[in-house]
Amino acid sequence: MVMERLSTGVKALDEMLAGGFPRGFSVAVTGEPGTGKTILCIHFTAQGISEGDRCIYVTTEESRDSIITQAGQFGFDFSKAIKEGRLIIIDALMGSEDQWTIRLLSVEELVNKVIEAKKALGYGRARLVIDSLSAFWLDKPAMARRHSYFVKKVLAKWDFTILATSQYAITTSEAFGWGIEHIADGIIRFRRVVRDGVLRRFLLVEKMRQTPHSLVMHELSIVDGKGLVILGPLEVRREDMALPRRVMERIQRASEKRDATLP
Ligand SMILES: Nc1ncnc2c1ncn2[C@@H]1O[C@H](COP(=O)(O)OP(=O)(O)OP(=O)(O)O)[C@@H](O)[C@H]1O
Ligand SMILES: [Mg+2]
Repeated sequence: MVMERLSTGVKALDEMLAGGFPRGFSVAVTGEPGTGKTILCIHFTAQGISEGDRCIYVTTEESRDSIITQAGQFGFDFSKAIKEGRLIIIDALMGSEDQWTIRLLSVEELVNKVIEAKKALGYGRARLVIDSLSAFWLDKPAMARRHSYFVKKVLAKWDFTILATSQYAITTSEAFGWGIEHIADGIIRFRRVVRDGVLRRFLLVEKMRQTPHSLVMHELSIVDGKGLVILGPLEVRREDMALPRRVMERIQRASEKRDATLP
């Protein structure tokens, strides 16, 4: 039997994942700030809207308007999808408060609100984004594993395929979200480096159960009007393999010195 997979909304990423995320999976997206986690969540949601899935987007880091604006910059009309009853954005008390506001950052309130949203959207295949899940245990990181297990278990019977982000604590570079990664069926890790004064972003599929996925780090770019664009696998990009000029010169000098001292 062919496994049903949900497209991530990024074609090149689907190819790295043998077609996408298996239906019903919980996938963790981790990485430093500004690496593209939210943008991947937006693509995943937009793809769901275009395929007629019920879509729920929980945002704790940014307001509902900020997500709608960001989606609009990549050509996705989230306002229309909300009006048409295909998408509900749940926020964590930022801006105006209504039915789709979580007042307390507790996992119980999160799952209750998500189930309420699913009932409002109706039956059918559903996508759930939780951006970020780590926000729910910011002040009690030791609870991460228990909380993420609870979320996964309670939501299991609602036909969701879940994408949940988790952030690093910049000071310790440990994930707040320790726990999500172990419980998740898949892990997509975003990375960033500054090389020659330029910020570069990368993505690696670290785990995807039941999937012959790519093991190669891929460089990505975030492009206005398009969103997340995969530039290619790291290993075939020769310029990435070349050492910086300074290092090359140092090696050159060292070998000249060695040659000069040889008998
Ligand atoms: N319209 C745009 N055109 C080009 N690049 C953009 C555009 N909008 C956002 N970006 C880039 O995307 C980055 C933000 O990415 P994203 O919001 O996905 O980060 P994140 O991994 O979710 O970070 P955080 O953990 O802080 O939420 C910005 O810093 C900017 O570099
Ligand atoms: Mg984000």
